[in-house]
Amino acid sequence: MSVASLQGRDLLSMADLSADELRELLDLAARLKTGKVNPHCENKVLGLLFSKASTRTRVSFSVAMFQLGGQVLDLNASVTQVGRGEPTVDTARVLDRYLDVLAIRTFEQQELETFAHYAKIPVINALTDLEHPCQVLADLQTVQEEFGQLAGLTLTYVGDGNNMANSLLLGCALAGIHVRVASPKGYEPNPMIVQKAKEIAGERSQVLITQDPELAAKDAQVLYTDVWASMGQETQAQSRLPIFRPYQVNEQLLALADPQAIVLHCLPAHRGEEITDAVLEGPQSRVWDEAENRMHAQKALLACVLGAI
Ligand code: CP
Ligand code: NVA
Repeated sequence: MSVASLQGRDLLSMADLSADELRELLDLAARLKTGKVNPHCENKVLGLLFSKASTRTRVSFSVAMFQLGGQVLDLNASVTQVGRGEPTVDTARVLDRYLDVLAIRTFEQQELETFAHYAKIPVINALTDLEHPCQVLADLQTVQEEFGQLAGLTLTYVGDGNNMANSLLLGCALAGIHVRVASPKGYEPNPMIVQKAKEIAGERSQVLITQDPELAAKDAQVLYTDVWASMGQETQAQSRLPIFRPYQVNEQLLALADPQAIVLHCLPAHRGEEITDAVLEGPQSRVWDEAENRMHAQKALLACVLGAI
């Protein structure tokens, strides 16, 4: 099984997984959800070092670890020396001596990479400004539940070319999903990630970056959006509103997608901005299943990196 290869590994980017590893991780997440497999990680301790707010990631990681029989330590920056500026290179080497696995939510991808370099234990990206791979594991699990497959589907992301757009580009490319991102000019996804997604997709699937949300939404099986101003961009929230208004996921845009299309949003959502209340609460929305799947997908990930599978 390819997932055995994940033991001891970091997940800093979606591109850290091979296509086979992703497929098997998602299969394991689905089996964990049914309760038919119950891996155990007794005496293992997960640290959560979060420098930004979190509901889903914090709680789903914690519950997943508890259900595996392990323990969780909340290492919020404000209650550790991290908040007082202890160097990352020192914190990483110290935490490495106590913990078995560490999930980090921070701003710079570089800080996460420094942690991973200095800590030998598995380090998991629980969101940076560049990527949010744990969310994409749950997103792909949700798509697979709905359609029974991933390869050949089309996922359209409409909105800010942020961490979600970046990780979706990579995750879809790995899964053989055609991926389209529609963003306003100047708010496109990271160009290096777009290039990497194209390389991963190869001849198997298409990667389209456009400024046209209607073109992108046409006949898609999955319509995805996220906030227009991410954590750390609060001061830009007002000035971004008129720029992003044409990129709202509403009933008109959804009508252009495949009639069987589902709508995903990583949450938290700003109703009336990137998504309307009618769409978020409507029959095509799968956001609550998507949020639940964070727990199953991350349980699969934890079991794999801790060698419990
Ligand atoms: N989707 C997500 O990561 O949510 P939180 O910020 O609440 O963890
Ligand atoms: N792009 C959002 C995702 C939140 C889960 C942010 O970074 O704030």
